[in-house]
Amino acid sequence: MKLWGGRFGKETSSLVNDFNESISFDQRLYRQDIQGSMAHANMLARQGILTEEDNAAIQSGLAGILADIEAGNVEFTAENEDIHMNVEALLTARIGSAGKRLHTARSRNDQVAVDFRLYVRDEIPAVIADVLALEKVLCRIAREHQNTVMPGYTHLQRAQPISFAQHLCAYAAMFRRDVTRLEDCRVRMNECPLGSGALAGTTHPIDRWDTAKALGFAAPTSNSLDGVSDRDYALETLSALSILMMHLSRFSEEIILWCSWEFKFIELDDAYSTGSSIMPQKKNPDVAELVRGKTGRVYGSLMGLLTVMKGLPLAYNKDMQEDKEPVFDAFDTVEQCLPVFTAMLDTMRVLPENMRAAAGRGFINATDCADYLTKRGMPFRDAYTVTGKLVAFCTAQGKTLEELSLAELHAFSELFDEGVYEALRLENCMDLRKSYGGPAQEETRRQIEEIEAFVLQHSKKEETA
Ligand code: ARG
Repeated sequence: MKLWGGRFGKETSSLVNDFNESISFDQRLYRQDIQGSMAHANMLARQGILTEEDNAAIQSGLAGILADIEAGNVEFTAENEDIHMNVEALLTARIGSAGKRLHTARSRNDQVAVDFRLYVRDEIPAVIADVLALEKVLCRIAREHQNTVMPGYTHLQRAQPISFAQHLCAYAAMFRRDVTRLEDCRVRMNECPLGSGALAGTTHPIDRWDTAKALGFAAPTSNSLDGVSDRDYALETLSALSILMMHLSRFSEEIILWCSWEFKFIELDDAYSTGSSIMPQKKNPDVAELVRGKTGRVYGSLMGLLTVMKGLPLAYNKDMQEDKEPVFDAFDTVEQCLPVFTAMLDTMRVLPENMRAAAGRGFINATDCADYLTKRGMPFRDAYTVTGKLVAFCTAQGKTLEELSLAELHAFSELFDEGVYEALRLENCMDLRKSYGGPAQEETRRQIEEIEAFVLQHSKKEETA
């Protein structure tokens, strides 16, 4: 018979049982559920709501259940609906009436709220560690390519010369924000809903600060209705994970372009590429494509949960049982993508000659030509027009700017002299862009050092979290 059988005149339909159950997926919360119950029982005992003997039986009973679950010796049942009722039923079967006292001054509503919060809070550091590992690899490659000139693009058109290091450091900057975003929402979610009861607290003299502290929360949630019905922390986490996936997806897109014959800026390692079942010559960037593709799943999780929550009146509604699978799936997806993406980058071969060759075409030093004239006194707008005419001339002649003779240049402006050839050399064009955040070697070195310091600092923070 059901827990609530006392009030009911009929057995639950098996259709409803199958429809209602969440044990098939929320068993993932068993550790957090037991942890929460232990803290709750300890608090009840300290407050004199539960005897020391009953609490001792509950503590050892729960510890035994935890060990048995971890050893794979527990069969959960859909009859008991979810992880909370499964654990409680197991406990009562094992220790008798003390087990029936555990749910005093508690509801499944604050129980699931605390379990899920603990789960999300516990899972975030694993993602952060994976992002920091990716940052380390980016720094390693960037260090080796501070001097590797490549075209920087806007509109996917060659624009201005940068280094490969500068390009990688841009991604490193995005991933740093992903780390701090995850850290931030972890801080904000760190309030304990346990003790909110079903929705309106309890008449028992509980101590919510006690359980909050025991579970590592900074404080109890301040309002009992909000405590049981808030899923913002899950949404914030999904949003941070979605942004992280968006970054990985943009990067994947570039990897896919770069290893095409049209670019050939990099070559992926054989161990991180796949072949074709029909075309013998193919070497495909499946890993990058799948990361790009899986981004859609994570966005879907975010959109799904936002939609679940948008019409819910206060406080708990069963709709909220739909909060778990998207969050589990998002964590699984991100934690699967990050290590394989990092390993793919770590093993790829960079082809600096091809980057340099691409940089040599497309007039990416045209801005430098205009800047050269500007530094010799010509107003920038005029210098811009003169250079535009030069580019048109070169295009007609099939030449680059630096291939023009001084005589040819003089036809466009008297301000040109021998110095222009140095000014147009791509290595100079890159290396003289020393403005803060620019691609000059000394600036990329500063960026790399900054990222390395960030990784060190945040790895330490994670160790102590
Ligand atoms: N399995 C439920 C969930 O995940 C637990 C809370 C159930 N509470 C309730 N009043 N039915 O949301």
